[in-house]
Amino acid sequence: MRGSEQIFDRIEREERIDPVAGRVSAFWTSALRSEKLRDVLSGRQLGHPLHPAAVLVPAGTLLSATLLDVTGSAELRPAARRLIGLGLLSAPAAALAGWSDWLDTAGAERRVGLVHAASNIVGLASYAVSWRQRRRGGSGLAASLAGATALGVGGWLGGHLAYALGVGVDTTAFQHGPTDWTDVLAASEVTTELRQVEIDGVPVLLTRLDGRVVAISDRCTHRGAPLHEGERTDGCVRCPWHGSQFDLASGEVVRSPATRPQPVYEVRETAGRVELRRSEVRSLRANPVGPSAGRELRPARGGDHAAVTTAEPRASQPV
Ligand code: FES
Repeated sequence: MRGSEQIFDRIEREERIDPVAGRVSAFWTSALRSEKLRDVLSGRQLGHPLHPAAVLVPAGTLLSATLLDVTGSAELRPAARRLIGLGLLSAPAAALAGWSDWLDTAGAERRVGLVHAASNIVGLASYAVSWRQRRRGGSGLAASLAGATALGVGGWLGGHLAYALGVGVDTTAFQHGPTDWTDVLAASEVTTELRQVEIDGVPVLLTRLDGRVVAISDRCTHRGAPLHEGERTDGCVRCPWHGSQFDLASGEVVRSPATRPQPVYEVRETAGRVELRRSEVRSLRANPVGPSAGRELRPARGGDHAAVTTAEPRASQPV
């Protein structure tokens, strides 16, 4: 195992972090109890998490200040101090978005998230010290370098959270689905209840809305919960894990923390049978990890792709 993997592995397994995480979670659950605030912090309006975009300003300005310190002349010191001031002022919004995302994590990702946050807090504190030293006529260089190092560690762990542990990633990004009409089940078997079927291993949620059959991915785009175990509210389904709501007809996110819409299937009823297919642009792209990479999906053959399953109870933890 490489050195970096050993560090990730150690943090992910470190159960001594959990009591601290519990107290921090209680604090932020109370501080961020406004649903409207959580909605804005989630990034739902952007279509992806806000936190990675919001860190751009503090990370960019603070690291630029350190670069000016290291590579620039003494006349650039005032500019570096202003950059640090701007970075410190913009950091709270980015941090709040991060804490909001962190509240929906569990287990290994929660531990890594807490260490990520701690590194960034150390980084910001170091830059605050550097700013103060500059104001008093000092160079603030050592504190600036310490801040850059701590923010670097925080960014490295943030990358692990997103790219290795999948926090913030649309869990249906690599999900297949038939692009040709595929027989699923008898139309009489679809009611207004939430029903899961599996098509070529892909879970799909079926129900009736105003009399017609609608179908969206059954895997929540936020953290992968089985939506058919959620609640139906008017024309929406409420996720059983973190309460995101999705429009059953369009798949659009009506309520965060999810930021990505559910993949939608076209549905038709033919001779008492339900058939469906996916047709959005993203379902047609070459999938880098699936069996269809670089070739066409196999054609439908009279409905023998689809298998109706009875959903087993699943763990109610994010995956
Ligand atoms: S898994 Fe988090 S809202 Fe669905």
